[in-house]
Amino acid sequence: MPKITFTSDDTSIAVPAGESLLRAAMLADVAVSASCGGNGTCGKCRMVVESGEIETTPTTRLSEPDRARGYVLACLTKAVGDVSVRVPPESRPGAAPSHAHGRRIPNRVLTPEERTTRLPPLTGWAPVSKQAISIALPSLTDNRSDATRLTHALERMGAVRHMMTLDALRELPAAARVAQGSVTTAVWRRPSHAQVLHVEGGDTADRQFALAVDVGTTTVEVALVDLVAGKVVAQAAEYNAQVTRGEDVISRVIAAGTPEGLAELSDLAVRTISKLATRVCAEANVHPEELLAYVTAGNTVMTHLLLSISPAGIRTAPYVPAATTFPRTGAQALGLPAGAHTQLIALPCPASWLGGDVVAGIVAAGVPWSDKLTLFIDVGTNGEIVLGNHEWLVACSCSAGPAFEGGGVLHGMRAAEGAVEQIRIDPETLQPSIITICCERPLGICGSGLIDCVAELFLAGALERSGKFKPDLDSPWVRHGERGLEYVVVRAEDSGTGSDIVLTELDIENLMRAKAAIFAGISVLASSLDVSFSAIEEVVVAGGFGHYLDLERITVLGMLPEIDPGRFTFLGNGSLAGAELISRSTEMLDVAERVAAMTTYLELSVNTGFMDAYISALFLPHTDLRLFPKTEALLAERERERGHGAVD
Ligand code: FES
Repeated sequence: MPKITFTSDDTSIAVPAGESLLRAAMLADVAVSASCGGNGTCGKCRMVVESGEIETTPTTRLSEPDRARGYVLACLTKAVGDVSVRVPPESRPGAAPSHAHGRRIPNRVLTPEERTTRLPPLTGWAPVSKQAISIALPSLTDNRSDATRLTHALERMGAVRHMMTLDALRELPAAARVAQGSVTTAVWRRPSHAQVLHVEGGDTADRQFALAVDVGTTTVEVALVDLVAGKVVAQAAEYNAQVTRGEDVISRVIAAGTPEGLAELSDLAVRTISKLATRVCAEANVHPEELLAYVTAGNTVMTHLLLSISPAGIRTAPYVPAATTFPRTGAQALGLPAGAHTQLIALPCPASWLGGDVVAGIVAAGVPWSDKLTLFIDVGTNGEIVLGNHEWLVACSCSAGPAFEGGGVLHGMRAAEGAVEQIRIDPETLQPSIITICCERPLGICGSGLIDCVAELFLAGALERSGKFKPDLDSPWVRHGERGLEYVVVRAEDSGTGSDIVLTELDIENLMRAKAAIFAGISVLASSLDVSFSAIEEVVVAGGFGHYLDLERITVLGMLPEIDPGRFTFLGNGSLAGAELISRSTEMLDVAERVAAMTTYLELSVNTGFMDAYISALFLPHTDLRLFPKTEALLAERERERGHGAVD
């Protein structure tokens, strides 16, 4: 990773190759003006390169003499190797904040290779796999049926009993005579039995593929897996077409309230997956008929809808799903591009609000093999939280609301291009510096940007612990808007919408409720097991949410307990990673089924301690500051810097 040294600030940070100097500055807490989100249009993020090799995009925002003197725009410049840069005074938003609270590095999501080291070696067959075999030709002295000769041959190679589907029986006579008894079978394998699904003539066992599918409420993502090479050969993602029937799962459950509605939602999910399957198959020169299995991981509602099972019971008391485990079914019959033998394996969902996506994530994170007490968190509209290790797992799900996905926030948006994802606020002037996803002109604020913004405002002394703006603020960035006090994150001239992008007090309230629900969920889970936060040995954060999540800011907000940052692991899309592993190994499928069966689910709506924990968490960072000693020290330090004495 290139090391960026900011000589003007006497600090340096290592960042992944390809990160801009602006991102490096924000991660190192080096104050730099940036109001267009890193889009290269505001011209404020000037830096002087003193040494080292860089790559920079030409811009008209710098004059020729400036360029000759080494000036670059930090958002348009990447380090090729180690680089030293100086931040000139004109690029400062105001007084440079103290760096005393330490440096952060970007949250590096585990690579597939790193994930593998957390798991036992993948051995054995895939749940649906091909097997090439020679069967004896019939003769007057061996007049066993074709099926008997095939299953006997298979059983000689594997210990379990093999049965045949009607389709496979229909294919067998011709296939067995094409290549002198050389056939390839597609077999569904379980520990106690196997089923021959398909037979074709000759040896085609070098072509075996499966499709891992993360059926997200917002986005569906697929990975085409080459089962012979043991790797993903193509990947694609697309918005779930169901979003036209509501953004959250509850709206989808309501929309599926009639037989026609259920059929429509199922069809929309199938259409999205079909589109993606067709795309990745074409990219990898694979015919969809060559797919042996679709392995789907989705939350409980998504899984019900995909399979056309009514999820209505999940929404009303006593909140039970129609099923928690699902029979294997033919993918073609569901309308997916596939062969007649292609299976759809939907991962089990332990409870109404704990789905196969979490089960897949737990497997991908290696929790079923770990001795460490692990906290697994997947934050979306619902915060799914699991605590445990290889021996036991306890889980809950708390309704965080849509705030972390940009919902219920005036200028909130999903983590998409143009979303403000990182914010630093000058403690003296309250001027913001921002970075947007893909450095597009800012369009709104996504979850990590919202967390940054509230935590930064609090650290800058602009917010009370209740989340309200302090009444005596003298800053052009805090003003009275139509909805009360608001903070200007982006001015109209810098935004991609032509209007100011603001964070209102009501937005902060929504975010406080969301973070309080997550913290209360973790507290209840830990206290129900009599486990202290300090005993948690590893925290696994799943989902894209974790990528630029700033651990310091998130504890300042009080969303997660103060746990040593070194104990955090960022899994990325655990749902897809788990589905991919399971598509490659019967053992992984067995483990996923075991995880679903062994997980004890705590229903928070009937938990007497949850409401108390929730109300206590509705403050920054919490009513009980003793739970957040590092944040308390940081606040006191910031208060001292502002010359206001100790924090109350
Ligand atoms: S030009 Fe770099 S942040 Fe605006």
